[in-house]
Amino acid sequence: MKTRKPRLLDLFCGAGGTSVGYAQAGFEVVGVDINPQPRYPFEFHQADALTFPLDGFDAYHASVPCQGFSLASHFHGVQHNYPNLIPAMRERLIATGRPYILENVAGSPLIKAFMLCGTMFGLSVTRHRYFETNILLFQPAHFPHIARTGKPRAIPRNGEYWCIGGHFGHKEDAQRAMGITWMQTQREIGQAIPPAYTRYIGGFLMDAVQPLPIDVSAMFADCEVKYPESYQFIDRQEIGGVA
Ligand SMILES: C[S@@+](CC[C@H](N)C(=O)[O-])C[C@H]1O[C@@H](n2cnc3c(N)ncnc32)[C@H](O)[C@@H]1O
Repeated sequence: MKTRKPRLLDLFCGAGGTSVGYAQAGFEVVGVDINPQPRYPFEFHQADALTFPLDGFDAYHASVPCQGFSLASHFHGVQHNYPNLIPAMRERLIATGRPYILENVAGSPLIKAFMLCGTMFGLSVTRHRYFETNILLFQPAHFPHIARTGKPRAIPRNGEYWCIGGHFGHKEDAQRAMGITWMQTQREIGQAIPPAYTRYIGGFLMDAVQPLPIDVSAMFADCEVKYPESYQFIDRQEIGGVA
């Protein structure tokens, strides 16, 4: 039987850090960004994510701009220059009735978010990012960092983790630290999420969107107990004691 890949819409996709992770998890990914993204590696639409039509996808990711919440903006006192797009985006995502991931930084108004860190995936960045979702998902253990994180704009020394912001040296080393190969500009890399994060999330999203591999309703057609269509868990004892 031929099956199609589940389709994921990556809103605010930038040059595709999140998209590549979802593609590695098995999704066909389509990206939307308000700015041109010449190195985005999949189907791309230059459009406003707040109005782009959301029909026809199995799952959604939105990396709403974080400048209004980031430490750097608060440090420079410019956080009020950036509108909070999270509530409007959340409303649109919930209205799809599909699994969604809403990503941002510490201090952003996400609801019950879990955190991912580069150390959870063996990367040389810490880069804590927060994710709100409407699916069941487990956060990996977050062990104490074995080294300090370097200063913004600095090249890490003595085994420090990279701090990748708007400006940093040694672009190739920074890309390697993030697990990114296809981006070129500091802006692209400085805004990206390491693909390892969304490859991990994508595994859970895949479980949430995949149709059952077998027709459970047919299996139970002759049984007295009728299982609802949403039944997701097969009790091996009940279907004949298969070990
Ligand atoms: C944090 S970056 C996304 C990074 C990306 N997820 C990655 O991992 O490479 C946020 C992106 O949102 C885009 N953006 C800002 N406002 C937007 C809007 N209203 N609609 C679509 N994209 C927008 C910016 O151009 C920027 O590329």
